[in-house]
Amino acid sequence: MVGAPPDSLQLPLPYPVFCRASVRRAIGDIARLAAPSHRVAVISDTVVARLHADAIVAQFPAESTRLFTIPPGEQEKTRARWAELTDAMLAWGAGRDTTVVAVGGGVIGDLAGFVASTFMRGLPVIQVPTTLLAMVDASVGGKTAVDTPFGKNLVGAFHNPAAVIIDPEVLVTLPDDVLRSGLAEMIKHGVIADAPYFDAVLSFADLVRDQGASAPDFVATITTLISGSVRIKAEVVAEDTREGGLRQILNFGHTIAHAVERVLNFELLHGDAVAIGMVAEAHIAEAIGLARTGLSVAIADAVGRAGLPSRLPAGISLDDIIAATHGDKKARTGAARYALPRGIGEMEAAEGKWAVAVPDDVVKSALSPRG
Ligand SMILES: NC(=O)c1ccc[n+]([C@@H]2O[C@H](COP(=O)([O-])OP(=O)(O)OC[C@H]3O[C@@H](n4cnc5c(N)ncnc54)[C@H](O)[C@@H]3O)[C@@H](O)[C@H]2O)c1
Ligand SMILES: [Zn+2]
Repeated sequence: MVGAPPDSLQLPLPYPVFCRASVRRAIGDIARLAAPSHRVAVISDTVVARLHADAIVAQFPAESTRLFTIPPGEQEKTRARWAELTDAMLAWGAGRDTTVVAVGGGVIGDLAGFVASTFMRGLPVIQVPTTLLAMVDASVGGKTAVDTPFGKNLVGAFHNPAAVIIDPEVLVTLPDDVLRSGLAEMIKHGVIADAPYFDAVLSFADLVRDQGASAPDFVATITTLISGSVRIKAEVVAEDTREGGLRQILNFGHTIAHAVERVLNFELLHGDAVAIGMVAEAHIAEAIGLARTGLSVAIADAVGRAGLPSRLPAGISLDDIIAATHGDKKARTGAARYALPRGIGEMEAAEGKWAVAVPDDVVKSALSPRG
């Protein structure tokens, strides 16, 4: 961003992204500059509120600040919670002079972002992501949404934040499996854009797999890596703000991941589904002659080093997965489309479209168990 504050990352985005240890103590100051307002509505889930949000609320004047919480979990990212939050804000007296501060994982970022995008036709929102996934993925890009019985993220809006504030220190309270899940998106960023970044994530994954957030230099190393991931996502999003073209490369691994999540009723972590999806889609890329042989082995090795799965759980029906790939909201009629890599750091721009139609039999064989 031209003219971004000097202590924020220098990115091609119309809003500043701050990423450094302890920056959560400056959220009040940053919000006053990025989104001056009379009232502040902090939205969080009850787990994150207890661990981190209270200290953030205390940075704003008590008489004009209110904390709104919902229970944690994807099942809460609903229109019902959107209605409850907007009603509570109206009852409190929030108006157009209110800034929303979203403190939590991707569920809170998406839901509070959607509240901000719709409340009185749009309030500024400051995103304070507290999971690794939300830091490297959900908080940047301006997509907000709630889930519906017909599928995830089907009702939402593009609504850029006024600022994104990432303090990697809050990750030390995150359960290890949720932390690992975020590594899948970082590996994805390496595959789609940057081979040296891919290698750096893997060195870090070795440490995290064995020692979690107690690994030596955890905060310093992950701060550098999160900044790298945010830069990759920001550069893609800046080229294609509304998902018409290049932004599709961020879907690498996700056509299969979304199908697996749907067939398993969202009972596995998103990062686990993305890990399985990246390995399967790398097999597809090799099978259709797009990627060099060995790419799928390299990606399977990478997800293994991060402690993530590379194969479908036993007993899952391949036909169900194939059927679910056609239900993806991004699928066009006929064969499902895939954003596929040629190699680590290099994506395919087939006919300038960034997503390739692949016949079902190729997908099924890529998903079939190997010896
Ligand atoms: N908008 C986007 O571009 C985008 C991109 C990717 C994902 N998403 C969305 O993100 C959501 C998933 O986000 P998520 O993986 O962060 O899940 P989440 O928000 O459900 O958080 C996972 C769990 O971690 C807890 N938690 C959060 N921060 C914590 C901390 N610092 N310490 C301890 N516990 C903490 C939460 O209470 C929750 O129980 C999905 O709904 C997905 O659709 C959106
Ligand atoms: Zn994802």
